[in-house]
Amino acid sequence: MALIGAAVDRVDGRLKVTGQAPYSADVVLPRMTHGVLVLSTIASGRITAIDSAEAERMPGVLLVMSHLNAPQLPDGGRAGVHPPAGRVLALFQEDAVHYNRQPVALVVAETLDQAGAAARKIGVSYAESSAQLNFAAAKPDAHAPDKINSDPSDTARGSFAEPSSAGPSSTGEQPPPAAARVAETYRTPIEHHNPMEPHATVAVWQGDELTLYDATQYISGCRSTVAKTLGMAPDKVRVVCPYVGGGFGCKGSTWSHVPLAALAARQVGRPVKLVLGRDQMFGFVGCRPLTEQELIVTADSSGQFESMQHHSFSHTSMIEDFTEGAAVQTRILYSCPNVETQHRLVKLNVETPTFQRAPGHCTGTFALESALDELSVELHMDPIAMRLRNEPAADPQSKLPWSSRSLRACYDSGAKAFGWAARKSEPRSMRAGRELVGWGYATATYPANRSPANAVARLKPDGMVVVQCGTQDLGTGTYTLMAQVAAQTLGFPLERVRAELGDSRFPEAPVSGGSQSAASVMPAVQAAASALRDKLIALAVGDEFSPAYKAPADDVVIEAGRVGLRSQTRREPIAAALARNGGGEIFAMGNAQPGDAKKHHSLHSFGAVFVEVRIDPDLHVIRVPRVVGRYSVGRLLNEKTGRSQLLGGVVWGIGMALMEDSVLDGRSGRIVNANLAEYHVPTNADIGHIDVDVVPEFDPYIDPLGARGIGEIGITGVAAGVANAVYHATGVRVRQLPITLDKLFT
Ligand code: MOS
Repeated sequence: MALIGAAVDRVDGRLKVTGQAPYSADVVLPRMTHGVLVLSTIASGRITAIDSAEAERMPGVLLVMSHLNAPQLPDGGRAGVHPPAGRVLALFQEDAVHYNRQPVALVVAETLDQAGAAARKIGVSYAESSAQLNFAAAKPDAHAPDKINSDPSDTARGSFAEPSSAGPSSTGEQPPPAAARVAETYRTPIEHHNPMEPHATVAVWQGDELTLYDATQYISGCRSTVAKTLGMAPDKVRVVCPYVGGGFGCKGSTWSHVPLAALAARQVGRPVKLVLGRDQMFGFVGCRPLTEQELIVTADSSGQFESMQHHSFSHTSMIEDFTEGAAVQTRILYSCPNVETQHRLVKLNVETPTFQRAPGHCTGTFALESALDELSVELHMDPIAMRLRNEPAADPQSKLPWSSRSLRACYDSGAKAFGWAARKSEPRSMRAGRELVGWGYATATYPANRSPANAVARLKPDGMVVVQCGTQDLGTGTYTLMAQVAAQTLGFPLERVRAELGDSRFPEAPVSGGSQSAASVMPAVQAAASALRDKLIALAVGDEFSPAYKAPADDVVIEAGRVGLRSQTRREPIAAALARNGGGEIFAMGNAQPGDAKKHHSLHSFGAVFVEVRIDPDLHVIRVPRVVGRYSVGRLLNEKTGRSQLLGGVVWGIGMALMEDSVLDGRSGRIVNANLAEYHVPTNADIGHIDVDVVPEFDPYIDPLGARGIGEIGITGVAAGVANAVYHATGVRVRQLPITLDKLFT
């Protein structure tokens, strides 16, 4: 009955492939109306007039809401702002415009087409003021953020005695020049999340109670944000989201359209459905900020790192700080006595950026792992041998022992699977036919997170177990893991267990972000199932017709949903005992807390990524025929969904390396490629063979199941792996993503 860890098929797979899984935009309610947002067309200024006369006369139009008529909200609409995920929203409380594609009006009509047609007839006049859209020009005014989630913005250890740029060390001594030194700037562009399912919400009121069918990574966060924003008691708001069509961080926060839909629904007295168009996904629902990362890394002739300086600049909006923690992994990844990291924010008249797919570590590993590849070239050392030379026995920043770090095993297993030993170190030295072949390496890493979570397990009169948790499934396998954990803990077959989630009436769980759902939710499910098992055994022991009657509890077994004694073969379905004892359901709650593991251990995941590129020497077309990734992530709870998630992360990484790029127009502040035709992501034809696996591991400190989260580590390291392979193939070092072929012409 080892269900935990097994390659169990997705329990929701059939619903998904037959189109029966209801997503938020699929919700249809009686008398439902449709909302369409009007977005600003300037980046900075004030709205001077809104002409909605024509729109209001159009067929089916029920409401045009703007700052001229929107209800006044507590604290000017800012009552729900609780960093890091509570956002400064555009809720029509003022006439100011702070970025292009800021919501300025909402049209509600009987049908979507009517609302869309009317929205196009709304005339908005502006008094434009000059917008800051130039990162380089604003960079000198960069400011330090307070913190990056729970991490400090700046750190320093040792003495950062860098001769040329940092000046003399604090002691005034000039250190001897390093054997190898790389000082370069690495740049990553703005990227938009682009889940296949756009943001969507359906708001419906019953009296003073609001229900939101919202596409979200965080139902209880949405409930709390909306309740605070509208000045309501949280228990008057219910958020329902059984399926999410991808989140990647943009659905971790509740954005302006959600409270606006609720306000509009109250105004028209009918349900309102509000679904963002693809172009609106590039406007006010977050993006990954662009980064400029200045690195200086030095090593002695043996390859021992001497110093690392990582200064990351990223952009934020005029209204709020969001920091991409790109230098955070540099504090812990390698053994190095002198490390200085800094984050600075550059304000632009753009939307507030947000968490996106391994925030910080994704952009940060591109810069760090590219710089270290450059260092290995200077040292004439194999890039993996150089990293092995600097493998830390404990966390070099906190000095705490690792909970588990099997990165050496990842290097070994990955190198073997890839055939790394056959690599010739010289750039342009490997070919396949006329194509240049490049082999690149980079390390992956992401922290292990966990938060308190709750769950309930119920035995129903029909013998089904239902396990419920107020978590979300972003498409990654949460339903399946919940069913696996509950079934194994209870001694029930998988098909007699049903997982339910995505309803804020279920016991509360954290945001499905920061790669923490499995490590947070599964221990709560296990606790609930285990408490239910105790109750079921007590029921059987107290039931004179049960085979377990009056037996000591530890003699009683539940197998395949049947109860009996260890020593005897007679078994009886649990439901039979239930039927004889009132016939109602029995339930048990489970609560799981992270404890103080982070006080005595350093909890991170790691990986080793090997990339092959093939490049046409004349046209410079880049292909990625194969990637090998090996990961140290604790125990994998489901071989199948787990590998899929890592594999998907690698695909993201290839897109980041070669394609993804939100192009900001420096005059209008508008993203000009706000569609999937011009914002490129990999298609099936762009992806070659991806071989991902985990090394055997059990992390006893993160949670009782031994599993760290795997939601985000898959993307980390990949872009650097591609960039390093491109260098190896061509001798051209590209330090600015995406690596488009024009950047290879020298
Ligand atoms: Mo993730 S970017 O924390 O959804």
